[in-house]
Amino acid sequence: PGVRPLIAGNWKMHGTLAAARELAAGVAAAPAGTAELLVCPPFLHLLPVAKALGGAVALGAQDCHAAAKGAHTGDVSAPMLADAGARYVILGHSERRADHGESDAVVLAKAEAVLAAGLVPVVCVGESEAQRVSGEAEGVVAAQLAGSLPEGFAAAGGVVAYEPVWAIGTGRTPTEADIAAMHARIRAELQGRFGEAGGKLRILYGGSVKPGNAKAILALPHVDGALVGGASLVAADFLAIADAA
Ligand code: G3H
Repeated sequence: PGVRPLIAGNWKMHGTLAAARELAAGVAAAPAGTAELLVCPPFLHLLPVAKALGGAVALGAQDCHAAAKGAHTGDVSAPMLADAGARYVILGHSERRADHGESDAVVLAKAEAVLAAGLVPVVCVGESEAQRVSGEAEGVVAAQLAGSLPEGFAAAGGVVAYEPVWAIGTGRTPTEADIAAMHARIRAELQGRFGEAGGKLRILYGGSVKPGNAKAILALPHVDGALVGGASLVAADFLAIADAA
């Protein structure tokens, strides 16, 4: 209550240009609802997707470099993303942490760059299955938050996405009680760090969110939206999840 839910689609490394345009047009065709909609295509598809979205749906990227410019072959900076029409940047996704060895310190530096470019970071945190089983999940997530959220995070309306690594693309989700407990812990960490402003930041759940489980998950306290992978690649599924918010 109070914050507008955010339903974000992370398209990851999927699709052709034509498919991206079609998906964007399908999402943009939906009537405005309760939730704010965000789509995050691969870098290469940002500009055509921005055009296809036409402004009603927010645009985001899946990563950026920590520097504003320079000799960094193959990378894309936050100011470039702002220039292309992006408003959000996903940072520290577990696939970036795994594929590219991104540490909390790297995520922090990237988040600073995103803030400096006037964009909003969506910082991903989450435990592995082994950490969940051994009872370390909340401690792991608290440490990730402490290490990767920059000072200006709350003032910029930063977003936290809780994504248990073992729930991503697996069809498995934590129990509702476990999601609620983790989101309450994240809220407490945000309030401890940022005070009152931390109470208003959006905390998304991600990991196998589908039309069939979205309503129950989005109804949990301190779940202010979802970061959707697989189901965001089908406009009807993504919009069904948004309707559940
Ligand atoms: O960023 C999105 C997440 O990794 C969730 O992916 O919905 O395919 O499980 P998924």
